[in-house]
Amino acid sequence: MPDLPTVPPRPATSIDVDARAGAYRVVVEAGLCRRLSEVSRDAGVAGRQVLVSSPRVWSAVGARFGRARPVLVPDGERAKTLSTVARVYDALIDAAADRGSAIVAVGGGVVGDLVGFAAATYLRGVALVQVPTTVMAQVDSAIGGKVGVNHAQGKNLIGAFHPPALVAVDPDTLATLSRREFRSGLYEVIKYGVVAERGLLEVLDRHLPGVLTQRGPVLTEVIATCCRIKAAVVSQDEREHGLRRILNFGHTVGHALEAATGYGRLRHGEAVALGMRAALALGTARGMTPPAVAEHALALVARLGPLPSVTDLAATDLLAAMRRDKKVVDGRLHFVVADAAGATTVADVTTPELRRALQAIGIRGR
Ligand SMILES: NC(=O)c1ccc[n+]([C@@H]2O[C@H](COP(=O)([O-])OP(=O)(O)OC[C@H]3O[C@@H](n4cnc5c(N)ncnc54)[C@H](O)[C@@H]3O)[C@@H](O)[C@H]2O)c1
Ligand SMILES: [Zn+2]
Repeated sequence: MPDLPTVPPRPATSIDVDARAGAYRVVVEAGLCRRLSEVSRDAGVAGRQVLVSSPRVWSAVGARFGRARPVLVPDGERAKTLSTVARVYDALIDAAADRGSAIVAVGGGVVGDLVGFAAATYLRGVALVQVPTTVMAQVDSAIGGKVGVNHAQGKNLIGAFHPPALVAVDPDTLATLSRREFRSGLYEVIKYGVVAERGLLEVLDRHLPGVLTQRGPVLTEVIATCCRIKAAVVSQDEREHGLRRILNFGHTVGHALEAATGYGRLRHGEAVALGMRAALALGTARGMTPPAVAEHALALVARLGPLPSVTDLAATDLLAAMRRDKKVVDGRLHFVVADAAGATTVADVTTPELRRALQAIGIRGR
């Protein structure tokens, strides 16, 4: 039998994030979960690890962690509350977690945010390792140090900055995500392509069918590229004074859509995809977004499949929600517009412009 060519193992991508509280590392590697203890040791995370996950996540990915036994708490946006955080505290106390312990959050953005908040506050803060298992969490929420929970009055109203000691990204965990959840995360990838690295759009163009298998080396590369972008932005602007804002591309309208539909109808990424369509329309109308860039991004969004319809929503409700957005500073809405180089924030968007942008996603009326 002829010798089979040996495929050299892909080296892990290791990215350093500069945070005010100290630097931390983001490691991206297919199969990383199996080596979590070793990677943690290399990253200087000492002490006993207490894993926290959710029943749904753990049944999907638990086998990848060998014999580790986690504490399980519910996930899902409804469970992202202080009472679930209290359950994490109880479990940490039961497990006798001390100042030297590291809490390892294994799950999507909900688990990462709520377990991160528990780590930020338990014993006034213990080390946190993020092991994100959704596209959204791998490319966005696990990096940057924002942790928190929802309040009945609004999303993410209670929170803290608690940069992780390590972010361990294993793209192999994405294989078990539902198709909808996976696609939803890919819209955030398209966002990075528009605002930071247009080459990503080309990679998706060429390899979309492969990426949609939810596994493989191109997916790992795509995830690593997004982690690099998020890490670079956060390193320069941890507290969202300027640069970090461009990552809100598509999010002003996206957040308004999520709020107007009660956070149940749309996945976050789907709302962002619709928001990007509106933002691309606004930017093109202003002459700021090159038509070729808008067409490219819109074509990719379309290739990912149909988005939920939002044509029943009223423009007035969405405009009101946008005015309540965190991005409103001194009464001015800071809207992110794609331009030739990437994206930029504009503070003089008018209501008629916003109405026209909403028409691009089928939202009309007063
Ligand atoms: N901290 C930040 O900077 C930041 C940034 C963006 C978003 N967020 C937050 O992230 C949250 C959304 O995160 P999300 O989109 O990851 O949703 P999620 O955490 O709700 O996960 C989505 C679903 O996928 C399941 N799941 C997770 N990993 C899986 C896997 N590998 N296989 C099978 N199923 C799996 C979960 O159980 C859940 O049902 C929101 O609460 C949002 O506020 C935070
Ligand atoms: Zn987002």
